[in-house]
Formats: sequence, structure tokens, C-alpha cells
Amino acid sequence: MNPSVLTPALPETVLEVSDLQVQFETIDGIAPVLDGLSYTLKSGETLAIVGESGCGKTIGALSLLRLAPSPPARITGGSIRLSGRDILTLTEDEMRGIRGNDIAMIFQEPMTALNPVLTIGHQIVEPLMLHKRLNRSAAWERAVELLRLVEIPEPERRASEYPHQLSGGMRQRAMIAMALACGPKILVADEPTTALDVTIQAQILKLMADLKHRVGTAILLITHDLAVVAQTADRVVVMYAGRVVEDASVYELFENPRHPYTRGLLASIPKLSIDDERQKLEGIPGSVPPVGGRPSGCTFAPRCTLARDECRQSVPVLETVSPTHKVACWAVIDATSKQEKEQAIV
Ligand SMILES: Nc1ncnc2c1ncn2[C@@H]1O[C@H](COP(=O)(O)OP(=O)(O)OP(=O)(O)O)[C@@H](O)[C@H]1O
Ligand SMILES: [Mg+2]
Repeated sequence: MNPSVLTPALPETVLEVSDLQVQFETIDGIAPVLDGLSYTLKSGETLAIVGESGCGKTIGALSLLRLAPSPPARITGGSIRLSGRDILTLTEDEMRGIRGNDIAMIFQEPMTALNPVLTIGHQIVEPLMLHKRLNRSAAWERAVELLRLVEIPEPERRASEYPHQLSGGMRQRAMIAMALACGPKILVADEPTTALDVTIQAQILKLMADLKHRVGTAILLITHDLAVVAQTADRVVVMYAGRVVEDASVYELFENPRHPYTRGLLASIPKLSIDDERQKLEGIPGSVPPVGGRPSGCTFAPRCTLARDECRQSVPVLETVSPTHKVACWAVIDATSKQEKEQAIV
């Protein structure tokens, strides 16, 4: 019997970011923004990227499309493999074939992606004609279908309207329709719901989850909101000051967070409790160091209660602590290896 009948197909790795280095080059000097960013994304997976403001989440996402503002940003090392092909080696022309086609992006503010002087339908038709070589009437039909898919009521009529004629939530849906037009392998969503009110936020997230199942697109979701992560992500990458500090399945991250920074982020979530009115929001004291002002060694050390000399001197490597969990922290790595040694002796 054909063995492939017995073994279910493993999800394909659609994106592999390895040791990505991005610098800012300004008249004040050169400073790293991303320092060794690494993660993978599999087909049909939702990977959340979390971290405080200024950690480099957006620069990392824009780098996938080679759209980080340059100057000041410059990619100086590492690789970004899209289904095995390093996009950092492609020409600008080849890159245009990837943007919106293989990788599409949705932003916090739909008006940054939508053109105010073109109808919604027109804006969905263009990438379909460019990348999928559809003629105008077939592309228009597909545009209406996409607007229906993202649950915009009366899609035939809405397709002929301009962005300002739609509400914020509808504009966000239209932007998702535009992003999905060419059936991208990867949808990058940078804070897609932050500007929306809570009810619409929930609708958009549900829509993204439905689309992932129906269309099979892998989603890279950048968000501050850990409640959104818990509801929608399969895996989570926690970034701090341009580096990955923890990478785990969503279950492991919430059940057994290992990095002191992740623990701090989780402790900052306000819990709704009627019984305990005294419950305080335990934030993480201090703030993310600015680009150009990052300390040597572990960049989180100045805010970390576990920090010791080693942490201030050398950068912790991202170590595997379980098959679905990696962490970059000297204290955690030491504790894990000590525990393993003790277990070996017993
Ligand atoms: N065009 C730019 N010029 C100068 N500095 C920039 C520019 N864009 C970003 N930065 C700086 O680069 C660092 C990383 O920025 P980035 O926007 O990627 O952070 P982020 O994690 O997405 O934050 P947020 O959660 O606020 O969106 C920050 O310190 C930011 O101030
Ligand atoms: Mg950002």
C-alpha cells in the first residue's frame, strides 16, 4: 500500500525567517532594530507576534515584503524563505510578483491600504488583473464574490462605492477582501483590530479564523492583545527589543510561560473579578530601550528580577525546552538543565 495513504500530510513550512538582521542607519550612527529574528510559519497556522511597543514587530512584518522604510532601515543579514526561496535574493521586479500575491498585508488603519479616490471593487480588481491575468469583467465578478466572502452586505452595490462611504468595520473587511484577492499563502495582519470597537473587533477576528479554515491561508498576527492571542493563535512568538525571547504553542505559553518578560506580560492582563476589587495590574517596571540605546547581553536584563552578571554580559540563545517551546533566558536554561540532571540521577 502507498505509505502516503497512511501518513497524514505534514503541514508545509511556508515561511522561515532565520537570523534576520535589520539596522537603522541615520546621521547619528548605525543601530540594530532586529537582531537575529527567527521563526517559522506553517500552512494553515496562525502565529501571533507579541511584545510591547517598539520591539520591532512592524519592522519585522514589513521586512517580509521588503517594505521597511529605507532609509533608515537596511536588511544586513539572515534569510526570509518563502516556500524555500530566499526573498532577500530576489530582484525588485520578482518582489512585486510576491507582494499581494504570495504575501498580503492588512494594517491597523484601512485607509493606509485603500485608495480614497478608487471604488472598493476597482481596488480588488487591479491585483486580480495583474497577478491572476483575469479580464476586467471576470475580475469584477471575483471582487464581488470576495466582498461576499468577507460578509459585506449587498456586495454588488458596495463594490461600486468609495472607501469613505463604508464604516470602519466594513472598510477593514474590504481591506481583508483585497488582501485575499489572489489567494496569498500568508496574510500578515498588523494590529488589525486595534482601531475598531470591541463588537466589530470580535467579528473581524472570527472572520479571519473562518477564512483560515476555508481558504487555508497562514496568518501572521501582530497584536498587543493577549486575549486575542489566546482566542486565535496556534503558536506565539514573544519579541523583546528586536529579538525573540520565547516561541511556544499557545497552550504552553499561557500554561507554562518561561521567560520573565512573557510572565510579566501575562501578569499585566487585567482580570475581571468581582470578588477581588483590590486586584492590581502588575505591570513590568521600566520600558523598552530605544533603538541605539540597547544594553549589551540580554536586553531585558535591566528590567528583570532574575538578572545576574552573565545576563548583562552575553546574549542568551534561543534554547529548546520542549518540542513545542523555546526560550532565550540564562536563568531558565540553567534551571532546566539542573532539573534534567537531577532527574537523570534519580
Ligand atoms: N521610520 C522610522 N524612523 C525611525 N525609527 C523608527 C522608524 N520606524 C520605526 N522606528 C523605531 O524602530 C523601533 C521598532 O519599531 P516598530 O514599529 O517595528 O515597533 P512595534 O513593535 O511595531 O511597535 P508598536 O507596538 O508600537 O507598533 C522603535 O523603536 C521605533 O521607534
Ligand atoms: Mg507596530
